[in-house]
Amino acid sequence: MSLFADFHTVDDFRQRARRRLPRYAFDFIDGGAGSERALARNATAFARVELVPRLGACHAQQDLSVDCMGQRFEVPFGIAPLGLCGLVHPQADQMLARVAARCGVPFVLSATSNTPLEQIADALGQAPWFQFYAPKSTSAANSLLDRAERAGCPVLVVTADVAAPGKRLRDLRHGLKLPLRPSLGNIVTTLCHPHWAARRVLAGPITFPNLAMPGEDQAALSFSSLMAWQTGGTLDWATLARIRERWPRKLILKGVLAAEDAQQALGLGFDAVVVSNHGGRQFDSAPAPLSMLPAMSAGGIPAASLLLDSGVRSGEDIVKAIAMGAGMVFLGRPFLFALASGGEAAVEHLIALLKQDVARAMSLLGMVSVAQAGQWREKGMYGIC
Ligand SMILES: Cc1cc2nc3c(=O)[nH]c(=O)nc-3n(C[C@H](O)[C@H](O)[C@H](O)COP(=O)(O)O)c2cc1C
Repeated sequence: MSLFADFHTVDDFRQRARRRLPRYAFDFIDGGAGSERALARNATAFARVELVPRLGACHAQQDLSVDCMGQRFEVPFGIAPLGLCGLVHPQADQMLARVAARCGVPFVLSATSNTPLEQIADALGQAPWFQFYAPKSTSAANSLLDRAERAGCPVLVVTADVAAPGKRLRDLRHGLKLPLRPSLGNIVTTLCHPHWAARRVLAGPITFPNLAMPGEDQAALSFSSLMAWQTGGTLDWATLARIRERWPRKLILKGVLAAEDAQQALGLGFDAVVVSNHGGRQFDSAPAPLSMLPAMSAGGIPAASLLLDSGVRSGEDIVKAIAMGAGMVFLGRPFLFALASGGEAAVEHLIALLKQDVARAMSLLGMVSVAQAGQWREKGMYGIC
């Protein structure tokens, strides 16, 4: 019997993660910006959507697979880029990448991963999708783009919603930086998690190997200089156009909420946008991405170019996003909760759960295949209460 037989929802994993991680590590994952209204809005947006079942479909040939960015995946959901995962487990990046490859799920490696891009590519035998923050210096940006191209990354995801660092109150209150502020609270919560602490100490200091320039000491790149590096660039449309010219493969803009911005990005030659508010971690007043999706879809942006994340917590949420126009749906925190709960086996269990729940929702709705969701959207099968 699976070790996770009693885990039926993302919240089951979240509760386990809360117990298994020091408080500052759990809060880094779980928290959002400001008073966490955007975080709450993401959940409310999904709760308000109703799906109308249609009868008479034959489900013998149900098919969850989907084409996205020229690749075929088993399911219509994937793992969003997650930086600083080393706070959950020293090998978190490799573990997530491995499970994703085994399960046929898209995986985006963060620019601020704690494992070098090339190491992930070697371990998998193929390069992952790579997420990119445009740094202040053009030479640093070009060198990272060249590196991702040399490694063979088939897709570059440019994150645009970081014009300023999000004001994450939980992190500020814990004094979360590297090395960690040695406050009494932080010391006590670390000592209360001896397995986590021992693993972390044995693995050595957390570094950001994708961001170090040649000759730079990676360990010296502090969390605050990292935040400045990733948010200090001028990511204007001219810079995005230059990235489009330079990057020869599929290109996605992440963190888009306005339909006009989505149209402009696609007009520049981006292949897709991720409609996202960074999981409510950047701007407390940002709308829920799900609420912005219908306008983009109605404006003629095809599902193949509309990806979505932020607040997705179940198979039914995935189906709701697809019903409203998304061609692929990403989740962030749920995979880190699973990883903290029980490593790769737990992440695999979460993927299986989501897959079953997507299949169940499709059956109850009368939707036979994700690839044919277009016909199903035309029937106007969602409502907002
Ligand atoms: C711990 C953590 C780290 C993240 N790091 C990055 C990152 O390095 N780059 C990025 O583009 N987005 C990052 N994100 C945002 C996710 O890619 C994604 O947009 C968000 O988690 C989706 O919302 P959800 O967590 O509600 O599923 C991070 C999110 C979390 C929770």
